[in-house]
Amino acid sequence: MPLVCVCSPKGGVGKTTVTANLAYALARAGSKVLAIDFDVQNALRLHFGVPLSDGRGYVTKAIESADWSQSVLTAGSNMFVLPYGDVTEDQRLEFEHLLATDSHFLMRGLSTLLNYPGLVIIADFPPGPNPALKAVSRLADLHLVTMLADTASLSLLPHIENHRLIGEPLNNKAGYYFVLNQSDNRRHISRDVTAFMQQHLGDRLLGVINRDESVAEANASQQSIFDFSPASAAAFDIELISKRVAAILGIKIGDGAVHTALRTSNF
Ligand SMILES: Nc1ncnc2c1ncn2[C@@H]1O[C@H](COP(=O)(O)OP(=O)(O)OP(=O)(O)O)[C@@H](O)[C@H]1O
Ligand SMILES: [Mg+2]
Repeated sequence: MPLVCVCSPKGGVGKTTVTANLAYALARAGSKVLAIDFDVQNALRLHFGVPLSDGRGYVTKAIESADWSQSVLTAGSNMFVLPYGDVTEDQRLEFEHLLATDSHFLMRGLSTLLNYPGLVIIADFPPGPNPALKAVSRLADLHLVTMLADTASLSLLPHIENHRLIGEPLNNKAGYYFVLNQSDNRRHISRDVTAFMQQHLGDRLLGVINRDESVAEANASQQSIFDFSPASAAAFDIELISKRVAAILGIKIGDGAVHTALRTSNF
């Protein structure tokens, strides 16, 4: 614990990118961090150097009732990833069915990880309403709703505020916050939407991430933005968001106190 959900009513807004780079930021600041993929696209692992050809993941094991922690991969000295894995359509449907109908299924799979002292878990989800988001939200400490600085995202704000993403309030613990991604000062609409979101959301807007080509380039080279382009605007923006997340959750950062590598076998 703690558990953070990165979600959105919209696809392609940067959820996976934010999940991965937030995980890197917190790991760099000294926390042990686990990034979990709940999206059948299985793309999160690519941000952690896992080869495209590596189809390992927890979903196939989960439907056989195994402890999900057995599928954790080490991605750095205090950085871990739990890939969704390559699954068939039947396996995806079975996993979603279990998430939706068996109230103990998720807890059984995650309990070792949730009880691991000091482990920060950041979960990435498919866009829109989905069974994984609904199930995991009940255990989550914080939600980060990722939106773009465009009018389509703006039109979906009431959707979130009226609890239509999972049919109930997203978070009953630390609450839900917004991240506005790909803000571009050079574009009129983007500037206006960013200003509106800042005014409308106030403190619930945890941060604005600049549209920055180095984000896409870092993704393409399977590196974090901090390794690929540490002086970039996006690296600065994401680091600031990570500090705000840490403050909300009471995660101690920046003292370099936690450096012990947590290996797969420790779970
Ligand atoms: N701040 C940014 N600046 C420039 N490009 C970005 C930024 N954030 C994300 N991108 C690019 O936007 C694209 C979509 O990002 P990503 O895959 O993280 O979105 P997603 O919300 O996870 O998508 P999906 O809904 O398909 O899961 C990627 O090509 C990524 O490199
Ligand atoms: Mg994604």
